[in-house]
Amino acid sequence: MSSLWFPYSQMQTMPPPLKVMAVKGVKLCLQDGRELIDAISSWWCVIHGYNHPKINAAIKEQMEKFSHVMLGGLTHEPVEILAKELAEITGLDHVFFADSGSVGVEVAMKMAVQFWKNQGVKGKHKFACLFKGYHGDTSGAMSIGDPEEGMHHLFKGYLPEQFFIETSLQEMEKLFKEHSQKIAAFVCEPLLQGAGGFNFYLPEFLKGARELCDKYDVLLIADEVATGFGRTGTMFACEQANIKPDIMVLGKALTAGYLGLSATLASSKIYNSFLGDTYEKAFMHGPTFMGNALACSAALASLKVFREENYLQKIARIREILEEELLGFEAKGVKETRVLGACGVIETRTEEAHRGIQEFAAARGVWLRPFLKVVYTMPPYIISEEELSKVCRVMKEYFTGL
Ligand SMILES: Cc1ncc(COP(=O)(O)O)c(C=O)c1O
Repeated sequence: MSSLWFPYSQMQTMPPPLKVMAVKGVKLCLQDGRELIDAISSWWCVIHGYNHPKINAAIKEQMEKFSHVMLGGLTHEPVEILAKELAEITGLDHVFFADSGSVGVEVAMKMAVQFWKNQGVKGKHKFACLFKGYHGDTSGAMSIGDPEEGMHHLFKGYLPEQFFIETSLQEMEKLFKEHSQKIAAFVCEPLLQGAGGFNFYLPEFLKGARELCDKYDVLLIADEVATGFGRTGTMFACEQANIKPDIMVLGKALTAGYLGLSATLASSKIYNSFLGDTYEKAFMHGPTFMGNALACSAALASLKVFREENYLQKIARIREILEEELLGFEAKGVKETRVLGACGVIETRTEEAHRGIQEFAAARGVWLRPFLKVVYTMPPYIISEEELSKVCRVMKEYFTGL
């Protein structure tokens, strides 16, 4: 019997987990001596690979000063500098930190609801969301994730009910015409819906959504927890539609996978609505570990490496290789392949079609974790061309039976 309860797992039937003893670059070194290329960046966050010397050094340096102080009434250099840098690169002027992507999304939802309340507008506390979306596992975040797919349908009745649409501007306008007086914000993962099945959609939809949100007085929340920091080919996916959300959520790669941290960024329009003489209008939220000094130092070091080592160019090269290797691939059980930025996907016809691929890949030195009907790679950006080709080869070999 395991005293450790694993995520998204049926504990009665879960195969024994692989034990990691060390990590280096893009590799996980296992107890049994195998070394696996981590093709999914530990759930999409380890963008610089493991044990990056510059990020290690930044954390050590901060640890010698202090690891953590509360942000209630206190402040410190790493959190202040990080807020400034994030504001600069997103164009959104105000940053509220929390400790995970899910909580960052909760913060964004509360900000949107209270924004309207602070303006004296009553009744706007629902959200417009996309089918196949995923925003985290806390209650509010679950309520805006796909109502049918995944596991969130288990909590129907417990979660608040939201409005769901396909990625169709006609559907969105119809919804807004009927219900915009109840809708605080439209929430989406821009361009790439990750945990809902790696569905991509075009920047035109996002651009149109921004226009409709403005026309019908609905805020736009961009959940860039998975897409932020280059994953779709630009620093933030919103850039490809040339839009600015009212609120943006960042997490995962923010600290390059070193520590839990999220940032919910808001425009001055949102922030200013919280100003006043009383607490009634203030934002009443404050996670214990918000703005943790070690996490902020890791984030600052990660951003520096990203900037100085021209990561967007590395990502463009990863995209080229993924396109060469995956696009047009056909085999039994494979429905479609697609690539966006540093994300390559093989969609299968059924979930059974990829059963066993995780063990198959691990036996060949690659760590994958397929789900629903997708086998995908979101590699660390430092992956070498040979390593990335190997990842793609192993993904394909499972289906061709080579
Ligand atoms: C788009 C998106 N938002 C939010 C989350 C939740 O982040 P966390 O797991 O850090 O709570 C995830 C996690 O996969 C995500 O992909």
